Amino acid sequence: MRILVLTGAGISAESGLSTFRAADGLWERHRVEDVATPEAFARDPALVHRFYNARREKAGSAQPNAAHRALAELAHAHDLTLVTQNVDDLHERGGSGDVIHMHGALSGALCAACGQRWPAPAVMLPSDPCPACGAAATRPDIVWFGEIPYHMERIWAALEQAELFAAIGTSGVVYPAAGFAQHAARLGAECVEMNLDPAVNARDFRRSIPGPASQTVPAWVASLKG
Ligand code: APR
Repeated sequence: MRILVLTGAGISAESGLSTFRAADGLWERHRVEDVATPEAFARDPALVHRFYNARREKAGSAQPNAAHRALAELAHAHDLTLVTQNVDDLHERGGSGDVIHMHGALSGALCAACGQRWPAPAVMLPSDPCPACGAAATRPDIVWFGEIPYHMERIWAALEQAELFAAIGTSGVVYPAAGFAQHAARLGAECVEMNLDPAVNARDFRRSIPGPASQTVPAWVASLKG
């Protein structure tokens, strides 16, 4: 079966990585919305690099949980397209091979001057020179608010083909990801949501499986093997 799975911060919550819109969604008294933007980077690149250096370190010391591992299993039994809004690498370390990071990844660095990409060092500084053009314009290769998510053509094409669409651990607040369920349902896919609390777009899903992802996702994957 052709399945498209979209994951959000909730799938990594039990690995110890905080979500964005829970009560603890602040960082050093900054709202994420005030740090993860091109304007914030232009205003204070050192602050933005500090924010992502801290997230890179935290993500590096986190471990994938049973939900990440179950999705890696799912790819062995079905034609799975795995799309994540997360910038950590827990899907990859949980065994998933082809992960579409639509909001970029902490493991990537980008030159804001020439567009060159390279593997991000553990700590990035505003003074780091771009390995290609030498400009001190390096940034995390993360899609910030107001920027265009990555790999959208591939995602829309996979949504058109999906027979089953599952959203796991995402609040359904940020578009275009929040519109995927409605689009898939319109094309005849069955839509299921796995979440701790119902997402803002819960009505777009025919089925909702409440609970922590480390329990609901392995059970859901097992049910698909049957
Ligand atoms: N198991 C399942 N779901 C969980 C768990 C858990 N253990 N813990 C939290 N959740 C759910 C919450 O109920 C919420 O619906 O995960 C969701 C997290 O929502 P957000 O914090 O809004 O994260 P996300 O939906 O991934 O945000 C989307 O917004 O800030 C931007 O670019 C950022 O990619 C991010 C995007």
